[in-house]
Amino acid sequence: MRIRQFAATLASCLWFSSSLSQAATTTTTTTTTTFEQQCSQLSSQLLGLENATVWFTEYVAGGTNLTFPQNNVTCARPSQVVDVDLCRVALYVATSNRSGISMEAWLPMNWTGRFLSTGNGGISGCIQYEDMAYTVGLGFATVGANNGHNGTGGHAFLDNPDVVTDFGWRSIHTNVVVGKQITNTFYNRTYTKSYYLGCSTGGRQGFKSAQAFPDDFDGVVAGSPAIRFNALTSWSGNFYPIIRDAGAQGFPANTTWEAIDAAILAQCDTAALGDAPDGFLEDPELCHFRPEALVCPTLSSNVTSCISGAQANAIRAIFSPLYGVNGSFVYPEMQIGPTILETVFAIYSPAQFAYTVDWFKYAVYNDPSYDTDNLTPEDWAYAISLNAGDTNTFDGDLSAFRGKGGKLLTYHGQADPIISSANSPTYYDHVSRTMNLPSASLDDFYRFFRISGMGHCGGGPGATFIGNLGAALASLDPDQNVLTAMVRWVEQGTAPDTILGTKFVNDTVSLGVDFRRAHCRYPFRNVYVGGNATDAWKDPANWECQ
Ligand SMILES: *[C@@H]1O[C@H](CO)[C@@H](O)[C@H](O)[C@H]1NC(C)=O
Ligand SMILES: *[C@@H]1O[C@H](CO)[C@@H](O)[C@H](O)[C@H]1NC(C)=O
Ligand SMILES: *[C@@H]1O[C@H](CO)[C@@H](O)[C@H](O)[C@H]1NC(C)=O
Ligand SMILES: *[C@@H]1O[C@H](CO)[C@@H](O)[C@H](O)[C@H]1NC(C)=O
Ligand SMILES: *[C@@H]1O[C@H](CO)[C@@H](O)[C@H](O)[C@H]1NC(C)=O
Ligand SMILES: *[C@@H]1O[C@H](CO)[C@@H](O)[C@H](O)[C@H]1NC(C)=O
Ligand SMILES: *[C@@H]1O[C@H](CO)[C@@H](O)[C@H](O)[C@H]1NC(C)=O
Ligand SMILES: *[C@@H]1O[C@H](CO)[C@@H](O)[C@H](O)[C@H]1NC(C)=O
Ligand SMILES: *[C@@H]1O[C@H](CO)[C@@H](O)[C@H](O)[C@H]1NC(C)=O
Ligand SMILES: *[C@@H]1O[C@H](CO)[C@@H](O)[C@H](O)[C@H]1NC(C)=O
Ligand SMILES: *[C@@H]1O[C@H](CO)[C@@H](O)[C@H](O)[C@H]1NC(C)=O
Ligand SMILES: *[C@@H]1O[C@H](CO)[C@@H](O)[C@H](O)[C@H]1NC(C)=O
Repeated sequence: MRIRQFAATLASCLWFSSSLSQAATTTTTTTTTTFEQQCSQLSSQLLGLENATVWFTEYVAGGTNLTFPQNNVTCARPSQVVDVDLCRVALYVATSNRSGISMEAWLPMNWTGRFLSTGNGGISGCIQYEDMAYTVGLGFATVGANNGHNGTGGHAFLDNPDVVTDFGWRSIHTNVVVGKQITNTFYNRTYTKSYYLGCSTGGRQGFKSAQAFPDDFDGVVAGSPAIRFNALTSWSGNFYPIIRDAGAQGFPANTTWEAIDAAILAQCDTAALGDAPDGFLEDPELCHFRPEALVCPTLSSNVTSCISGAQANAIRAIFSPLYGVNGSFVYPEMQIGPTILETVFAIYSPAQFAYTVDWFKYAVYNDPSYDTDNLTPEDWAYAISLNAGDTNTFDGDLSAFRGKGGKLLTYHGQADPIISSANSPTYYDHVSRTMNLPSASLDDFYRFFRISGMGHCGGGPGATFIGNLGAALASLDPDQNVLTAMVRWVEQGTAPDTILGTKFVNDTVSLGVDFRRAHCRYPFRNVYVGGNATDAWKDPANWECQ
């Protein structure tokens, strides 16, 4: 599906490179042969690259299905189709005498002059080739790195804090420094503007760059960020014991979730909260769901439509903020919404969350036998204060990034079961307090969009195609695409006020648009102002950022 989408949007791609290229001139190499020759000469030009060993360079014709036979199988990325002609460089860069990164640079023949780095996910370990294909297809010279280790697990952190440091910030930074050198060498001129696109851990990497390496990027697009990282892995680890200890009587049966979801919608997907009955919550922060409304005296009378007191208790625990030692705040609540409970159950109940297990065993305690099934408030406090690899990524001072004219665009799905969307406003407000800036001033360089009905980095019942991924591309129009919106902001000074998201019928582009919604920037919230005619809520004009 994604590949067909790409072909369909190639025409508008050209619009993107021509109309947004005032600062960036399109370099079109005259013939394919010349470009191929330049590509084959590149490894000899890179011999002096510090700490680097170039594995290979290869010319890749547009339409090629690249395969990665050596890529770790847990990355689940055995192949990737690329749509445009490019020069591919693969290399190793040592970051210490016991650590290093594997990275790739994909240099398009039709270069816009722009540089872009992709990011990673989870606690991997995996170059995100699909992201590289998306942005190289838009004419960015694109780099991606393996975050200092291979595979989705964290075993490589054991006995090697340098690998943890690579994960925390050094992989992404090194990848950018080296990637810019490769780009400038290959095209024999300096890139014009530098961009970042990532989500989840990739979102954290974008925030880390803005906080600690302000010169790395002119524009950062960082979604669903895993910031406050050690608190996040603590919070992720608290669901397994809640569900396990609740037992069969304490945690709702699958058959009951439909009734719970209906109760959440009845209580919160309502005009009273400025919402429309579209099946998901526009602003979960306004919903103070009361599970006790579902409690019934005898479960056996109708087990599918009511819950016990113990079950209401477990539901409350999941939708409450996490407090730790001495009652100190650790991490905000799982945002509420329909289907969240079943998603939480599916992700966190079979066993302790894998990222929490690996992070605590290998990075925090350096002890493979540490009991991560029963982490305590003391464990959370220890991890947060240890801040292994400088991963917390919660520095509220973005002065240097702002000072050099950097722009930060972040978004967070309001139905994200992996990283609660309730965390992103806490960082925004922290920056506001740290820098003494109201939203009107933050707007100059930092804008945060709440995407209703979006899961973790994509998917969900809302209008979630916003161009953050190649697989979530509805349009290259900067009003509808977070990446081209960022290019327009950096190069033309026009900041996005809203991001118009698209929902396709069954999430299938060829089936046509189901509805669209203009997502507001924080602290505005989207309020339904339309009538109650059938499907009136599908019209973005019936919503207002207030
Ligand atoms: C690319 O090649 C791999 C391995 O041969 C194959 O599994 C995959 O289906 C191919 N992808 C496309 C889009 O043809
Ligand atoms: C990571 O995988 C690449 C192949 O994708 C391999 O060349 C490299 O040696 C691996 N690195 C480590 C540290 O295992
Ligand atoms: C090369 O690696 C050493 C550590 O091994 C580091 O101090 C130095 O900064 C690195 N150089 C670059 C350009 O990254
Ligand atoms: C690696 O570098 C550290 C200093 O960063 C040094 O203490 C250590 O001895 C070196 N190890 C080896 C094997 O060279
Ligand atoms: C390169 O881009 C130009 C427009 O900027 C377009 O006319 C041309 O077809 C593109 N070439 C390739 C090989 O994609
Ligand atoms: C692949 O990744 C898994 C999970 O991180 C890891 O356990 C395994 O050692 C890796 N394999 C190789 C060959 O690096
Ligand atoms: C690189 O650019 C410089 C200045 O623009 C030019 O003199 C030089 O010939 C170019 N080198 C190559 C290999 O094209
Ligand atoms: C049990 O719950 C279902 C679903 O809410 C409802 O349709 C049905 O009428 C209920 N049955 C009784 C006996 O209350
Ligand atoms: C909790 O409170 C006790 C008593 O005031 C204090 O000694 C301890 O340091 C506190 N622990 C944390 C993690 O703040
Ligand atoms: C409940 O649903 C989850 C997925 O959401 C599934 O893995 C599990 O097997 C279901 N349990 C039962 C008893 O059907
Ligand atoms: C959308 O998917 C549902 C079930 O997944 C199916 O019943 C329906 O026919 C599909 N709609 C279209 C227009 O294909
Ligand atoms: C719309 O809602 C109003 C009251 O909220 C009601 O009087 C009216 O009948 C409704 N119209 C339709 C078409 O449902």
